Amino acid sequence: MDDVLQFLLPFILVLIGILTLQYYKQRWPVSNFPPGPTGVPIIGTLLSITSDKHLHRTASKLSQRYGNVYSLMLDTPVVIVNGFDAINEVLQSNKGLDFASRREPRYMIQLFNPKKLGLFSADFSATWQHQKRFALSALRGFGFRKSGFEGIFTERVQALLKNLKDLAEAPQDLSALLTGTVASCMSNTILGCQYDDDEEFQLFIRRVLKGSLKLGKIQMLLYNFVPFSRPFLKRTAQDLKDDWVLLSSFLTSRIAEHQTTFRSEEEPRDFVDCYLAKMAEEPDIFNLEELTFVLLDLLFGSTDTTSNTLRFALLYMVINTDVQEHVHQELMEVVGTSRLPCMEDRDKTPYTVATLLEILRLSSVASTFPRCATTDTTLAGYSIPKGTNVLINIMGLSHDPELWPDPERFHPTRHLNDKGEVVKSPYLLHFGAGRRVCMGESLAKMELFLCFSSMMHQFKFELPPDAETPSLEPVPAFNLAPVPYQVILKAYDHSLI
Ligand code: HEM
Repeated sequence: MDDVLQFLLPFILVLIGILTLQYYKQRWPVSNFPPGPTGVPIIGTLLSITSDKHLHRTASKLSQRYGNVYSLMLDTPVVIVNGFDAINEVLQSNKGLDFASRREPRYMIQLFNPKKLGLFSADFSATWQHQKRFALSALRGFGFRKSGFEGIFTERVQALLKNLKDLAEAPQDLSALLTGTVASCMSNTILGCQYDDDEEFQLFIRRVLKGSLKLGKIQMLLYNFVPFSRPFLKRTAQDLKDDWVLLSSFLTSRIAEHQTTFRSEEEPRDFVDCYLAKMAEEPDIFNLEELTFVLLDLLFGSTDTTSNTLRFALLYMVINTDVQEHVHQELMEVVGTSRLPCMEDRDKTPYTVATLLEILRLSSVASTFPRCATTDTTLAGYSIPKGTNVLINIMGLSHDPELWPDPERFHPTRHLNDKGEVVKSPYLLHFGAGRRVCMGESLAKMELFLCFSSMMHQFKFELPPDAETPSLEPVPAFNLAPVPYQVILKAYDHSLI
């Protein structure tokens, strides 16, 4: 046995040497690469990020040691970007294009979207530009129609208020109702279906949201970044893949239904019709595979983010009852008792708008998001080779004590000036910026304003008498979610529902 070991030892040492050399070459792809923990072959710097279940928190902690721009070794080197100047350099400066690509973890992409189709995960390419430009203009087209998005959203908000009235006086978890409202706001325009009457679509949305939670789990982190963990996590991966097959088959069957009823000479009924018409014109760029991913990005991008933000909004309101009362009073003065709030009221209700900005700041549901270098470039003076993954820490920016005094305090008036007018801070970048900016920023703001102001105008929300104050600590997921909580709501005397 000893002889065998003696014989093998030099080979083992050479192998370790080669692996280590390879690792260092990969870990530090160029000199002047951003600093960071060195890590070890096979697991890289994974141990540095598993100390906390929230990546954004670890990202902020490590920046105290390595500076605002530093690197970690996950499956590839990833540059973590903190602080306004560096984030601004990635998103908005004339370097914006240098970081306009996106690369999510290799294994996640291989599981779901190996061709990187659609809007969110696509590389910066001519095809992606065509898809995004087209999707924006098709959605705008619906926005300009007779009732526009405000009309569609107002109808859904009224349905929400009716449902809420039926639930008044007993403790309720309103998550499903809020998610349903947000999903309904987009489902008609995008897929032409009515959320309330379409059980298959409801199941689809529930699966999408469950998928978001699964993606935030530690097993997924390991699966993505630690190759030797993959054989042990085959079930996790298979489970996600099965979900994905069900999600895409739902979308494929809805697209197929559209294909049989679509009439090119008639006005498009929804986004899918617009896309089918475009496919006939430019089949090289617009095709069914792309459409499936575009739909998934629009439905997932709009539902998970906006509904989680609304759920956080209610949570902040039941904890900060003085703010809730102030918002209600402002709405009563501006809107009165004979109608519900509408978008014209937004400019006249600065405290309500400031409250929503504070909710967006504190909850930052898209807490980190990926970008990728399209070319050899620099960032904060460091060299960044083409193809480097970059992760923006938006939660860190929204909680930076140098930009936001007493950052954890819920304090809407920080968004108002001496005259009580809303001041939009350049440090609020929760929709991203530049070429890859969120496609639904204005829609999400409209949806949030109409839902939130209508709920505050019509109901008083409280915690159930014996309930403990729920934690504001978010649940890790693809987009952060609040912990489950219950509220009691009471309709005001002037109720219009
Ligand atoms: C509170 C609500 C929302 C938040 C916080 C949010 C946040 C974000 C963020 C941070 C990004 C990445 C931006 C970047 O890389 O610069 C993004 C991208 C995206 N969002 Fe949103 N989003 C919200 C609502 C929506 C809605 C309503 C839609 C649908 C209309 C949507 C569709 C998308 C799409 C398609 C992308 C990919 C854009 C691209 O890669 O070019 N989002 N969102």
